[in-house]
Amino acid sequence: MAVLPVVKYPDPVLSAKTKEVRVITDADRRLVIDMIETMYAENGVGLAANQVGISKQLFVASADQVKGKELVFFNPRIVRSEGVIKEFEGCLSVPEFYEPVKRAKRVWMRALDLDGEEVEVKGEGLLSRIFQHEIDHLNGILFIDRLGFLKSRNIKTRLRKKTVR
Ligand code: NI
Repeated sequence: MAVLPVVKYPDPVLSAKTKEVRVITDADRRLVIDMIETMYAENGVGLAANQVGISKQLFVASADQVKGKELVFFNPRIVRSEGVIKEFEGCLSVPEFYEPVKRAKRVWMRALDLDGEEVEVKGEGLLSRIFQHEIDHLNGILFIDRLGFLKSRNIKTRLRKKTVR
């Protein structure tokens, strides 16, 4: 088990679309364990594989931070959504910025679980937001891409300056 370094904006792995996982291997299962450890170490509620530099359709989540009850999804996609809600959001790859983001209130997501079985899960409240945020990651989209143009550009400029320093 290992805590992995979290990739930060503007690393290009974050803006690339990740690859579908056809077969879940032992290496993937080890990666999941490390991603869960990393998520807790960073006090996150969700973590996408490309945030640790692996461009695969995989994310882990823990809305309530209860160890042993983490959620793991491969190839997730939203199949239905309802309502709209705007709430503050942050991201381990975009440190120190929190902005209100408009999201669907409820979502139904289909994915493969750790055993490769197809599952459909309903997300409400924080879990709904996590599902949408993490699926965005897997499509190369950050929450700051969902803000207004000027706000988004301003944050990106500040983050790039931080990386150069
Ligand atoms: Ni994020």
